[in-house]
Amino acid sequence: MATITALPRPPFFMILFLIVLLPLACRCADPDPLQDFCVANLNASIFVNGFPCKPVPEVKSDDFFFNGLRKEGNITNVFGSNVTAGNVLVFPGLNALGISMNRVDFTPGGVNPPHIHPRATETGVVIKGRLLVGFMTTSNVLHSKVLKAGEMFVIPRGLVHFQRNVGKGKALVIAAFNSQLPGIVVLSFTLFASTPPIPNDVLTKAFQVDEKVISGIKSKFGS
Ligand code: GLV
Ligand code: MN
Repeated sequence: MATITALPRPPFFMILFLIVLLPLACRCADPDPLQDFCVANLNASIFVNGFPCKPVPEVKSDDFFFNGLRKEGNITNVFGSNVTAGNVLVFPGLNALGISMNRVDFTPGGVNPPHIHPRATETGVVIKGRLLVGFMTTSNVLHSKVLKAGEMFVIPRGLVHFQRNVGKGKALVIAAFNSQLPGIVVLSFTLFASTPPIPNDVLTKAFQVDEKVISGIKSKFGS
């Protein structure tokens, strides 16, 4: 007859590992969903961490499809690039699922300027053209490579990154994020076009340049 014996107590270091180290192994962005879906009610008057769900009887198949990335964005701007977002704000079916995508179009020489996604890691695949993709680590090391169609990149969450079309024709990249709303901080806008503006004496010290350099840059961004 089988006898039931008390299980041995796990050693202290094992408990420490489980409590302290395992959470560090998680590279999660958005939290896991608690139901099959939660199509965003973008008009709800309450705002939680994400959007409240549409009542299930009102959910339609169309809530799970989005055609907003079909067309090239308007690339006739100073950067020669355009980001078309496919996030929860335009595709409510993504709500609570922790993913989204962008389409980025480039003119020859166009740049997607240095920016950060505070809530997501980004991965992307070049669909057309030749693209220099780079990101900087927190130790200020630049990792970059020129990619051609079919090649992929990854940008770890929160790191400053950019892309530049180094080919002769237009370029197109499709990017994916582990967040329904990755957020974007474009450094040039954040530093030189905030509302209200960052005082010039902060920026002159930070960049070690004269005030006229700072006001010159600010004027380019309309402030
Ligand atoms: C590219 O870096 C993007 O954020 O879409
Ligand atoms: Mn990005």
